[in-house]
Amino acid sequence: MADIFEKLLKNSGPIGQHRERAHGYFAFPKLEGEIGSRMIFRGKEKIVWSLNNYLGLANHPEIRKVDAEAAKQFGMAYPMGARMMSGNSNQHEQLEKELAEFEMKEDAILMNFGYQGIMSAIDAICGRHDVIVYDAESHACIIDGLRLHPGHRYVFKHNDLEDCEKQLQRATALIEKQGAGGILLITEGVFGMAGDQGKLKEIATLKKQYDFRLMVDDAHGFGTLGKTGAGAGEEQGCQDEIDLYFSTFAKSMASIGAFMAGPKGIIDYIRYNIRSQIFAKSLPMPIVLGNLKRLEMLKTMPELKDKLWSNARKLQNGLKERGFDIGKTDSPVTPVYMTGGVEEATAMVMDLRENYHIFASIVVYPVIPKGHIIYRLIPSAAHTDADIEETLQAFTETKAKLDAGAYKVEAIPDMTDVSGKRFDYMLQTPRNK
Ligand SMILES: Cc1ncc(COP(=O)(O)O)c(C=O)c1O
Repeated sequence: MADIFEKLLKNSGPIGQHRERAHGYFAFPKLEGEIGSRMIFRGKEKIVWSLNNYLGLANHPEIRKVDAEAAKQFGMAYPMGARMMSGNSNQHEQLEKELAEFEMKEDAILMNFGYQGIMSAIDAICGRHDVIVYDAESHACIIDGLRLHPGHRYVFKHNDLEDCEKQLQRATALIEKQGAGGILLITEGVFGMAGDQGKLKEIATLKKQYDFRLMVDDAHGFGTLGKTGAGAGEEQGCQDEIDLYFSTFAKSMASIGAFMAGPKGIIDYIRYNIRSQIFAKSLPMPIVLGNLKRLEMLKTMPELKDKLWSNARKLQNGLKERGFDIGKTDSPVTPVYMTGGVEEATAMVMDLRENYHIFASIVVYPVIPKGHIIYRLIPSAAHTDADIEETLQAFTETKAKLDAGAYKVEAIPDMTDVSGKRFDYMLQTPRNK
């Protein structure tokens, strides 16, 4: 019999295979200093475009004060245990009430993490006769929720209404044949890679013809879209049609935890049946009080969302004017599409980081097809005009180098050599500060 560990040492997985060269630089980098548009990476200041700190709340002095005072008053332990057993508090319930009101829903339930939360909510809601219809580009947490589902699931091509309707027809036919079950359609408010909004309004109109309930993961839309910041449903004028609205606190709220909002009876059902919350410790009080404060600021300081959008437009228009392909984004998420191999992409990222002091994340094969590179820039209210200008200039220069083949290298640069000789060939325009 094989030792179950043996295969893990032989094959580290699609990303793990690069870990020896990539660790600490391309993967698991350490950003230090105060969270903001400029942070320290390997001892030097970089302009950071990788954080979902959309509203700039992460380091807001009022937030820092509330977080610190709450930690002083309650410590990180209180309340102990799962909410159902001993970990409930008035403040947890207050946050749920305020979130439900903000999302124009009857009730809401808090979750410790978005990932486990939505995954487990899907599990709680769907029985074996139920059918899940979902968008092909759904986040991993939705896909893992589907893995827990014992019944059928039909995927529709990303944001493709025709295919969505086809899958609804298949699902309807199956349920009629079974004589039992219902349909849950799951999509996202904003798709986090490409930045395009889910076609919620169009999907919602399909409810006239098909019986289904709509669940929306609005991780990137919450706080960034809609008149009040209530998200993609508000933005598209179809919030009422979203049966279950979900968002994490990990993005515009710059915190941790998540929630799902919807009809009272259904949220109550989830409350008593969602395994990831029933069998897990409740959110610590400082997180809850910190989230109440963040929600208050998100609601009462529209200038933060305005600043985010003003920065997003400057960045996106600047990239477009310079001939960059930023795809179909209609959110602050700003993808920059380029072509090149994984090795080239990593060499370019290094040049951007070391010589232009720009810290941006890249997405390459196997997450996207071979030969493609996506830079994913996340503007925030905390960025300045100077951050944007310097970045646009850096992208113009490095793209010219990429097109001229300057980053063609045989292997992913070995990061242990970053300050040594093997790195010199890449430093063609030293601009070290
Ligand atoms: C679309 C989407 N859903 C869910 C999650 C998971 O949320 P959390 O970080 O709270 O686990 C994320 C990432 O944070 C996300 O981007």
